[in-house]
Amino acid sequence: TDPTFLVTTPLPEPGMHMLRAAGKVVVPERQLTADELTTACSSGGHDIVVAQLTDVLDKATLATATVRGISNFAVGYDNVDITAATDRGILVCNTPGVLTAATADVTMLLILSTARRCVEADGYLRSGQFRGWQPELLLGSDVTGAALGLVGFGRIARATAERALGFGMTVHYTARHPVPHDDLGPLAGRVRFAELDEIVRTSDFLSLHVPLTADTHHLVNTDTLRAMKPTAYLINTARGPIVDERALVTALRDGEIAGAGLDVYEQEPEVAEGLAELPNTTLLPHLGSATRSVRATMARLCAANAIAMARGDMPEHAVNPEVWGA
Ligand code: GLV
Ligand code: GLV
Repeated sequence: TDPTFLVTTPLPEPGMHMLRAAGKVVVPERQLTADELTTACSSGGHDIVVAQLTDVLDKATLATATVRGISNFAVGYDNVDITAATDRGILVCNTPGVLTAATADVTMLLILSTARRCVEADGYLRSGQFRGWQPELLLGSDVTGAALGLVGFGRIARATAERALGFGMTVHYTARHPVPHDDLGPLAGRVRFAELDEIVRTSDFLSLHVPLTADTHHLVNTDTLRAMKPTAYLINTARGPIVDERALVTALRDGEIAGAGLDVYEQEPEVAEGLAELPNTTLLPHLGSATRSVRATMARLCAANAIAMARGDMPEHAVNPEVWGA
């Protein structure tokens, strides 16, 4: 019999088309509550869940789950308790690779926008305040020559490094271990490894590129923000809870750092009180991968992962392949 796909939120059409051709597609009329999601996953009526990063598939939800696989429409999969999924024999897939360039572009956008006060300047013009060129109107910070510190050095961080080098930035990264020279590809000799505390202290732009885990939760906190240069900017295109957002608001307000460019928040879609009133921020609504072509490609990959799992084949991008004995 044809597999049934529970698609919590419709994917862009190329993905829906593939799923419909491969089985039965169930799309709830609205976002399921946690209880409804738990029930839907354990009813026996669905083989595969096609999930969004906004669907919380935690230990409680997965404890009774009967689905065989979860295909997450995102590269990040912190919304899924992987250990709990693995214990239940549920394979989990994500969509890496296809959104790397788009997300690195948004990282650069946030660097440039915060440094050059793009949001403030745009508001200045739109509100009719622009009365002509002035020698000291809305002066910002230099990007060329500035030190970029990358926290994490996966695909998106490396793509950001390539772009930043093109802008004449110096690039330091931190990761669990320095990447061997021969594994750095085009970045060999052009980026330098440093420990986290050094990167925090010395960067002009501190950009986060680690997954959200128990270890990285509030990695940027009051102490981190105090250790940063008062002229430095924090950039986050990874996951909101890596930053203590209330501490960030305080630091921005008190001038402990110069500004922040954020695409992700601790409690999306809410943002910490006071954040949206601060002029020295650029705040995007989680748009890292949001280009038409990237979202279509993600949809195809997400559907392909779901279909492979439904057929019992190993999908291209399994997070916990050991579940199926790989
Ligand atoms: C988006 O945040 C993703 O993880 O793909
Ligand atoms: C995610 O795609 C990463 O490795 O940065």
